[in-house]
Amino acid sequence: MDFAFYKLLHIFGAFLVLGVYAALGIWAMNERSSGENKYEKMSMIAHGIGLLVILIGGFGMASKISDDMMGLGWIHIKLTLWLALGGGITLLRKKPEYASWILLSALGLIILASSIGINHYSWFKE
Ligand code: HEM
Repeated sequence: MDFAFYKLLHIFGAFLVLGVYAALGIWAMNERSSGENKYEKMSMIAHGIGLLVILIGGFGMASKISDDMMGLGWIHIKLTLWLALGGGITLLRKKPEYASWILLSALGLIILASSIGINHYSWFKE
């Protein structure tokens, strides 16, 4: 598999994760209390697929740009952001009253992770 394929997977995953946050977050802010969402389970599955695909794409790319990918400090930061994005969706289900903050934080985490992905050579010199 080449670098471009992993990059596409990676970005597709990020879009999927953000899409699910937006869908479930806006539902939580509006009509969550007044009924069930038939598509909640499907959204959770899409969230899981999105995270998995980010990881496959990320490690796929990392293996192409470094012989010692876990030696890259910024990879650890991105893995932490990835974990937070995973946990955030559970938080959204358990604490829907904080939906707007959770949604904003997820957007912030994704922007930060993307910025690190794009700027790591100049920011981290690796
Ligand atoms: C937390 C969610 C994440 C988002 C939203 C994200 C987003 C991005 C974006 C937008 C890019 C730039 C792609 C480009 O050059 O056009 C990128 C690059 C990259 N990301 Fe991520 N990323 C995330 C997590 C991760 C994780 C967990 C890993 C490691 C397993 C990772 C590894 C990489 C690598 C290796 C690159 C390529 C850097 C290069 O081209 O030099 N990312 N990421």
